[in-house]
Amino acid sequence: MADGRCFEREHVWHPYASMLDPPECWPVQSADGVRLRLEDGRELIDGMASWWSAIHGYNVPELNAAIKRQTQDMAHVMFGGLSHQPATNLARKLLEITPNSMEHVFFADSGSVAVEIAIKMALQHWQARGERKKTRLLALRHGYHGDTFGAMGVCDPVSGMHHLFSGMLPEHLFADAPPNGTDDDWDEAYISGFQRLMAAHHDEMAAVILEPVVQGAGGMRIYAPEFLRGVRALCDAYGVLLIVDEIATGFGRTGKLFACEHAGISPDIMCVGKALTGGYMTLAAVLTTRTVCGGIHADGNVLMHGPTFMANPLACSVALASIELLLDSPWQENVAAIESRLQRELAPCRAMPQVTDVRVLGAMGVIELNHPVDMALVQPMFVEKGVWIRPFGRLIYIMPPYVIPSDDLSCLTHAMREVVAIQR
Ligand SMILES: Cc1ncc(COP(=O)(O)O)c(C=O)c1O
Repeated sequence: MADGRCFEREHVWHPYASMLDPPECWPVQSADGVRLRLEDGRELIDGMASWWSAIHGYNVPELNAAIKRQTQDMAHVMFGGLSHQPATNLARKLLEITPNSMEHVFFADSGSVAVEIAIKMALQHWQARGERKKTRLLALRHGYHGDTFGAMGVCDPVSGMHHLFSGMLPEHLFADAPPNGTDDDWDEAYISGFQRLMAAHHDEMAAVILEPVVQGAGGMRIYAPEFLRGVRALCDAYGVLLIVDEIATGFGRTGKLFACEHAGISPDIMCVGKALTGGYMTLAAVLTTRTVCGGIHADGNVLMHGPTFMANPLACSVALASIELLLDSPWQENVAAIESRLQRELAPCRAMPQVTDVRVLGAMGVIELNHPVDMALVQPMFVEKGVWIRPFGRLIYIMPPYVIPSDDLSCLTHAMREVVAIQR
């Protein structure tokens, strides 16, 4: 095992990490329920749901069975010229549960690729209709949409990766995101910058892209649904498509099945991923309306995308099983119970001088500090406390599986409070 550990440190890359001086990594042997079992026998309560995806926890009998069943029929077949029930059934289910205007589904292999496809749909829609000037996107500061080139181009231009690839990313437009808050503290001024950009640039704009209500990896920010309603109205008024990136927020995380339901709006293009398969396999989907689909085909062209593993049957089967498991569960009550426990148990941190904000929505709790977290120090501390919580920047946050028992959730919030208390 020691040899394996050495080999991994020297040869295996981890996300956003140095390969020359790799940070510590904890090998996981298995995972069950809300617990990750490490190779050294320790168990950690999972606060991250494997980056928003494992909403039912791990080793879920219904999901295991779906994969096993599907393996007996076929693990994969190409989607060009062939089709299969797992894809058809999943598409039907997705159209049932997403806003009514969604009519067509394109399967992608990850969230970032879904964003690429959504952008391509918007661009092809206008190009095919002869609107050749409409090539830019309007995104929000603090936004995060993935790590591929098209997606990086619409991530926050400062905290994102623009500085590493300047001159190589498309030149899009960025509006200020609204501040953290709810409809109760909404002020029309919060959308005025966005409105000005729309007024000035709509004729060259193909689409607006944003994360609805929660901006995830760009700062774990939670903003008023009223902003979304305003954006929808402006997109309609100026003839600009609205792409809603529900990759992190989808499938119940914010207390609604999809976050755009908080605002009662319907997008033109919608991306889902992450929790789509309950964290079992990589799969994403891009949904769109009859109008956008018609636009794409207006000049006789077709959507120019076709990944090798498009609509992988194993992934589609487990996704359908995960959605059914979610819808058959009391997920709203579970998420609401997590929300009120997080509100209650994180509230004391508000009084700490090193804390600038505490934010909770659905099954997501965030403590923002006034300085960046020292990961080399804090990460092993959480492991010592028997929890898996992975901070970034100034944020210590959790988004646990919805099935987390209340005492396990309290262990997570207790560890958060203890670690925050010693941050000076
Ligand atoms: C809102 C949002 N969009 C897109 C992505 C990219 O998804 P993936 O990591 O599956 O490529 C993420 C991932 O964190 C995300 O949070």
